[in-house]
Amino acid sequence: MALRVLLTRRLPSSVIDTLKQHAEVDVYEGTDAMPRTELIARIADKQGVLTCITDRVDDEFLDAAPHLKVIGNFGVGYNHIDVPAARKRGVVVTNTPDVLTDATAELTWAMILDVARRVSEGDRLIRRGGWAGWRPDFLLGTELRGKQLGIVGFGRIGRAVAEKAGAFGMTVAYSGRRGAKAAGVSFPARQVSFDELLVSSDVLTIHTPLTPETTHLFDKRAFARMKRTAFLVNTSRGQVVDEAAVAWALGERLIAGAALDVFENEPQVHPGLLAFENVVLVPHLGSATRETRTAMADLAARNMIAVLSGQPPLTPIP
Ligand code: DGY
Repeated sequence: MALRVLLTRRLPSSVIDTLKQHAEVDVYEGTDAMPRTELIARIADKQGVLTCITDRVDDEFLDAAPHLKVIGNFGVGYNHIDVPAARKRGVVVTNTPDVLTDATAELTWAMILDVARRVSEGDRLIRRGGWAGWRPDFLLGTELRGKQLGIVGFGRIGRAVAEKAGAFGMTVAYSGRRGAKAAGVSFPARQVSFDELLVSSDVLTIHTPLTPETTHLFDKRAFARMKRTAFLVNTSRGQVVDEAAVAWALGERLIAGAALDVFENEPQVHPGLLAFENVVLVPHLGSATRETRTAMADLAARNMIAVLSGQPPLTPIP
């Protein structure tokens, strides 16, 4: 039987052409996520599937795919995939680490600078005709130099964000499982407990995977521990932050602002957040550069080709 692969999203044509040298390729041409019923129907005869964060891979999906050998996830996070259920059926699951590290770290810095210097707030003000001219005390922000960047999760992306902190004169502290030495970092970074990170940081940025332990890690209690002058930035997964608690913390002026790239129920945003000027809302753009999305597509395809050719995958989920 010829090998068949389903792509739940369009990929660059060069990547599809490479895949076509190894398998018949069925591409979903829609702009939005593939409807569930269509996904379940089209996966039935496939040995490989390229999935995204918007495709839930669970028992129902896997039961509908009796020939499946490999899931090439287009993204580093895989909380939408039931990995043990896939493994139980002998399906290899891969993701796209490394290639998106710099893009995500860059966006994180864009968001830190935006919320601290009120860039989006100023943009909105100009657009609604609210700018009356220069004033010495107009839209004053917070300077980063001399402040502490607190990093929750010191994996690849957390470390890439930390590396750039020196350019802004910030010190770095982090909480996470791995020590800086073990992580091989060459810049000063202090490992502290999560609680110490909360109370001592001026900017807190989240780079931890979503797990049962990190779900709603940032809740009312956490916000009550943060400095009133601190900013929260999240480019990891929406569910790590209790969005209703962010709105509460902003309303109570417990934090100075937040910049969120990910949300609990995308594409919904907690309505309580929309009223605040000191929140930067970004529509899940962490890895969204032309260079990175092409590299992700290429890596996801090469993972699938490797497994379908009987080779070990390049980047299996550990
Ligand atoms: C990732 O790579 O995890 C991005 O958030 C897209 O899923």
